[in-house]
Amino acid sequence: MKQLFIVANWKSNKTIPQTREWFAVISNSIHSTNSGQEFQISNKEIIVCPPFTALSMAKSLIDQYKLPIKLGAQDISPFRQGAYTGEVNGKQIREFADYVIIGHSERRIKFQESNEMLTQKVAMAKEHGLTPIFCVQDAQTQIPDGVTIVAYEPVFAIGSGNPDTPENADSVAKIIKQKGIEYVLYGGSVKPENVVNFTSMLSIDGILVGGASLDAQTFSSIIKNA
Ligand code: PGA
Repeated sequence: MKQLFIVANWKSNKTIPQTREWFAVISNSIHSTNSGQEFQISNKEIIVCPPFTALSMAKSLIDQYKLPIKLGAQDISPFRQGAYTGEVNGKQIREFADYVIIGHSERRIKFQESNEMLTQKVAMAKEHGLTPIFCVQDAQTQIPDGVTIVAYEPVFAIGSGNPDTPENADSVAKIIKQKGIEYVLYGGSVKPENVVNFTSMLSIDGILVGGASLDAQTFSSIIKNA
């Protein structure tokens, strides 16, 4: 069984009470023995990326429920600690998270993040022991040195209900791997019904889920079906 990365990107969603509720539901699902069968997660690295404001609570809940879940941040400052109003730096993120999403198309497009800035963010992540999950929109997007996990997320597929075909996603993943990237994930309108079409592809090592990760029950179906 290949190693799969199942990443939840909550984007700018969820308060503290909603975070508590989400983890209570996912815990129930993961620890459930109702079917007489434990969740098959030994080959799955589950990574949840809440907003910065919920990272601390998410970490406490993971400890409390003893969940096999890692945390990721959705962004990182391109600078070290200091006079950078509004920024959250790698040292602060490392207190809670193992991963960080860098270069999501929403940040590239809505916040004008350049390749130069993203390269700096990757360097900051590495310096602080965080694994970058670097998002690209196609096989041509520049990938900074030191990236091991790339998420291929075509813009047309994000939040549209119109995913890429598994065959095309697989061929893009294959090209990205030829550049020396170890793991390539697919993201864009992944749902419980279509997840296995992607995770069963030879060059795809997991998925990045936005909208369908907000409901814990739906996300747990994605984990099960992956
Ligand atoms: P979606 O988002 O699953 O809602 O399409 C994916 C993403 O933006 O990471």
